Amino acid sequence: MEYITLNTGAQMPKLGLGVFQMSDEEVAAAVPAAIEAGYRLFDTASRYYNEGALGKAIATCGVPREELFITTKLWFKDYGYERTKEAFRVSLDLLGLDYLDLDLMHQPFNDYYGAWRALEELHEQGLIRSIGVSNFYPDRYADLIQHNRVVPAVNQRQAHPFNQQIDAQAQAAEHGTVLQAWSPLAQGNPEVLNHPVLRVIAEAHGKSVPQVILRWLTQRDVAVVVKSTHADRLAANIDVFGFALSDAEMAAIATIDRKEGPDHQDPAMLERLLALE
Ligand SMILES: NC(=O)c1ccc[n+]([C@@H]2O[C@H](COP(=O)([O-])OP(=O)(O)OC[C@H]3O[C@@H](n4cnc5c(N)ncnc54)[C@H](OP(=O)(O)O)[C@@H]3O)[C@@H](O)[C@H]2O)c1
Repeated sequence: MEYITLNTGAQMPKLGLGVFQMSDEEVAAAVPAAIEAGYRLFDTASRYYNEGALGKAIATCGVPREELFITTKLWFKDYGYERTKEAFRVSLDLLGLDYLDLDLMHQPFNDYYGAWRALEELHEQGLIRSIGVSNFYPDRYADLIQHNRVVPAVNQRQAHPFNQQIDAQAQAAEHGTVLQAWSPLAQGNPEVLNHPVLRVIAEAHGKSVPQVILRWLTQRDVAVVVKSTHADRLAANIDVFGFALSDAEMAAIATIDRKEGPDHQDPAMLERLLALE
C-alpha cells in the first residue's frame, strides 16, 4: 500500500474500500476479506446506513485502530453548527470509535459554513484527525477556503476515465487538498471497463482494466475509494502498486476523458437528494 500525506500530516492510504450500497451482511463479509487483502481505509457515510455494520466489522478485524483509516460523511440535511456536532456523535457511536480519521461534508448544499465551523472545532479537539469535503466544485471549494480557517484535507469527487477531473485535481493541489476519487470504476460501466484504449494497456501489462484504472488514478496521486463485495475483486483491486504505466500510456488514457458525470450545480440534483430519506 502507498500512502499520501494530508495537510494535517496524517498518512492516508491511497486506496480504500467504499461501502456505498452494501447491506450490513455485505459489509460484514467484505471487511474481513478486504483486511486480509491489505486494505486499511474504509469509506462510509451516514447516508449509507451501514456505519454500525462497519463499526462491528472493524472492531473484530484484528488490526490495531491506529493502522486503520476510517472515513465517514456528514449528510447535508444534518448541516448547521449544532446539528453537525450531534450528527458527528451519532456517526462516532455507530462506528464504535473515539475518533474519526476523516469526516467529509457529503454535498455542497444547505448550511455548510455552519457545518464546517463545527468540523473545524471537532478537528481542533482531536476528535476528527482530518476534515474535508465531497462534491465541492471549484467555485464553492474556493469560497470555502477563502472564508474559513481550515483548508479541506480531501475533496472526494467522482473520477474515472470518462470524468478525469484534471482541473479539479490541479486546483486542489494548489491549496494542499488531496483529490479522492469516488466511483473510480464508473460503477462497473461496461463502456469504461471494455474501452479499447484501456484494454490494450491492460493486455500489455498482464493486468485487468479495473487494475489499469486504479493504477492510473493512484499514479496521478489521486486517492481512490473503490467498492466490491467479491473477495477476488477486492484482492485484484488493491494489487496495483507493483507495476507502473508509461508516460505514453498515461497520455493515451488522458485522450478518452469526456468530462462526463453528475452535476451538483444543477438544481435538479438538489431536488433529487432532498427527496431521499
Ligand atoms: N462522495 C460521494 O458522493 C460518493 C458517491 C458515490 C460513491 N462514493 C464512494 O466511492 C466508493 C466507490 O464508488 P462506487 O461504489 O459508486 O463505484 P465503483 O467502485 O466505481 O464500482 C463499484 C462497482 O464495480 C464493480 N466492481 C468492483 N471491482 C470490480 C472489478 N475488479 N471488476 C469488475 N467489476 C468490479 C462492483 O461490483 P461487485 O461489488 O459486485 O464486485 C460494483 O458494481 C463507494 O463505495 C463510496 O464509498 C462516494
